[in-house]
This record gives sequence, structure tokens and C-alpha cells, in this order.
Amino acid sequence: MSARSFQGELQIPRRHVVVFCDDAFGPQSERWIDLIPDGRHRILPVFDGGFDAAHPACRPRVEAFFDAHSTRFDRASTLVVPGGEMAKNDPQVVESVLASIHAENICRQSFVAIFGGGAVLDAVGFAASIAHRGVKVLRFPTTTLAQDDAGIGVKNGVNHHNEKNWRGVFSVPTAVVNDFSLLATLSARDWRSGFSEAVKVALLKDAGEFERLEQDAEAIARRSEPESQRAIVRSAELHWQHIVEGGDPFEDEIARPLDYGHWSAHRLERLTQGELKHGEAVAIGLGIDAALAVELGRSTPDFQRRVLSVLHKFGFTLDHPQLDDPSELFVGIEQFRAHLGGALVLTLVAEPGVSFDIHDADFASISGAIERHRSMVRTLQV
Ligand SMILES: NC(=O)c1ccc[n+]([C@@H]2O[C@H](COP(=O)([O-])OP(=O)(O)OC[C@H]3O[C@@H](n4cnc5c(N)ncnc54)[C@H](O)[C@@H]3O)[C@@H](O)[C@H]2O)c1
Ligand SMILES: [Zn+2]
Repeated sequence: MSARSFQGELQIPRRHVVVFCDDAFGPQSERWIDLIPDGRHRILPVFDGGFDAAHPACRPRVEAFFDAHSTRFDRASTLVVPGGEMAKNDPQVVESVLASIHAENICRQSFVAIFGGGAVLDAVGFAASIAHRGVKVLRFPTTTLAQDDAGIGVKNGVNHHNEKNWRGVFSVPTAVVNDFSLLATLSARDWRSGFSEAVKVALLKDAGEFERLEQDAEAIARRSEPESQRAIVRSAELHWQHIVEGGDPFEDEIARPLDYGHWSAHRLERLTQGELKHGEAVAIGLGIDAALAVELGRSTPDFQRRVLSVLHKFGFTLDHPQLDDPSELFVGIEQFRAHLGGALVLTLVAEPGVSFDIHDADFASISGAIERHRSMVRTLQV
């Protein structure tokens, strides 16, 4: 009788490489070009339209660079896609990337080189990972949030059914190249947005880093380079460590610690139809979750005040009219539960570096937390 069942471990090793530099297309290009497998590869540059408009010199320079390195790269025509959340809301963006991949003969050994904010990285990365069941990706993140969080993530996706990231896949890029010089043109709001994620990951994993952010927040808000770059690198490293060393890179477990503050942030982004940017919504979400830990008797108002104060120093607005109706926000809990697969696990923080999970969140505690959040925010603003 022959065996009728088979089982074994699949080993699928991946390297997750993140490189920082000041000028990825000058002498520092060696830092990332050596990561490309030997041989000549077809490469399709895809640019975030908002970044392209703000940095008109970048695209021709990148194209000239790939042409000058023609022993390594065979450049396809650059595609420019709309920047911002539109890239994830409009299915045409994914379609246009798939069309370019097809028309430009991008195969599984070719590269899509993505220049953009977190939204464009998510949407174009998604298209690249479904074409031919995955073509290779180089990421060149162009926002603070993309450099310190989104570009490090191994999630790619777009919004669907009026929900964030409903359609998506996990895949690991060949390299993430964080070039600080690309950040110079960010608006004040987009500059600030990356630092709520830095606060988030510090609260979860590194009390010393949280203290450092408390000290440096004003300098970072002024865009002082040493403090800003240090904070971006550390946030990227903490996100990277979680993925590479945390034991659950593709989120098979239900718990999703890096989504601290996100159940309400994702809901707020939707309720405000994108008027709140992701990082701005995360700042409010962190405040609400800090208040929730107090509401549940697991943390102290002192901790809540520290969280709100550091976010306030970065310049975040921590209240929003959408918080008037807690029942609208509460829907975010149900959506998060559904997204996790039916069982709710919310990671909260009791004090910097100390987190805990809860498995239920009733309406009374959520509305109590929102009220607690808003009343402490009012004391910050006087
Ligand atoms: N995949 C992940 O793990 C992960 C993690 C965190 C966040 N995200 C996603 O990232 C997105 C938010 O990303 P974001 O904060 O980078 O915002 P964004 O991508 O929406 O970009 C913000 C704006 O800045 C413009 N822009 C980009 N670079 C610029 C530059 N250098 N100069 C001037 N303008 C520039 C864009 O065109 C856009 O209008 C959300 O969709 C969020 O869900 C994904
Ligand atoms: Zn986020």
C-alpha cells in the first residue's frame, strides 16, 4: 500500500536588507548595487507622482544612472503613478503597473525599482508581487514614514471593500535603500507623519528610545538632521528586528504588536476619507490606546501624559471631530477582529517597553478611553 499523505518543512530563506545613505545615485551607490545578483537585469523604474513633481531632477538622474550601468541594468521606460493614498484606492494604479511590467518584458529575474511614499510602495509592490507570481523589487522610500516603517514592512497591498489593505500579499524586497536626501521636499505634515510610527515602535520595544524621542522631538520637528536621521534609523531597525527576529514575519500568529494604535487609526483614515494621513491618524490612535490602558486599570495617567506630550511636541493634532461619535470608531474594533480572523488580540502598552495583549474591548471601555484621551489632550493645549 503506497503512502497517501506526505508532510515536511518548507524552508524558504529570505534576506531582508536595509541600507541607509545620503546619495544613492552618487558614489554611495555601491552600498546597494552590490546587493543585486550578478548579471544584467531588466529594470522598471516606477515613480510616485507627488515625489516626482517635488524632485524633478531625480527621475532623469536615476534613468541616467541605470543607463550608465548598462552592464548591470537594461532600463525600461519609467512609469509615474499617482502618489498618496490614491495609489491604494484606485485599482487603475495596480493595473497600470501590471500593464508596464507586461509591455516592458519584466520577468521574474527583472526588477521593479519603486520610488515613493508608503502608499506607492504598498500598491506598486503589490502589483510586482502578483505579476509572474512575483518579480523582484528594489524600494527607494521617499517619506519619513516609508523610511522608518512602511518600506521595511514585508506587506504589500491596496484598499478594497472600503477597508485598508484588504487586498494584499507578503513579500520581501531584494533591498530597501533609504536615501535621506530624498526627504528634503516633504511637506510639514508628511515630514511629521513618520514619527508617530517611531513613537509607536519605541513604546512597544525600547524604553530608552522613547526617552530619546521625548528629548529630541522638538529638534526633529525643526528637521534638525542628526536627531531626525538617528530616529529614522532606530525606528527602521526596531521594525526590521521585529520582522527578521520576531519569529512571525508573515503574521501567522493572531497577535499583531506593530499594529499598536492602528485599529482606530485605520478607521479614522476611512471616516475622514483620507483627510487624516496615516501617520496623523496613528498619533491619535496611540493616544486612544494609551488612554485605553488607563481605562482598563493597566496603566497610569502619567504614562498617558508622556505619550500625548511627545506627540504634541512633534506637532501632531491629537483631537478630531470624528471622535464625537465613539460608535463610529468602535466599528474599527470589529474590522480589526475580522481582519485578524475572528479572534481579537489588541496589543497595548502599560509603560514604555512593556506591552500586554487584551482579547476583548467592549463599547463602554472604548468610549471611556476616547473621553479620557480628549480630556487630557485639552490640558496639553492650554
Ligand atoms: N506595508 C507596511 O508595512 C506599511 C507600514 C506603515 C504604513 N503603510 C502605509 O503607508 C501609507 C502612508 O505612507 P506615507 O506616510 O509615506 O504617505 P504617502 O505615501 O501617502 O505619501 C504622502 C504624500 O507625499 C508625497 N511624497 C512622497 N515623497 C515625497 C517627497 N520626498 N517630497 C514631497 N512629496 C512626497 C506623495 O506623493 C503623497 O502625496 C499608508 O497607506 C499606510 O497604510 C504601510
Ligand atoms: Zn502604520
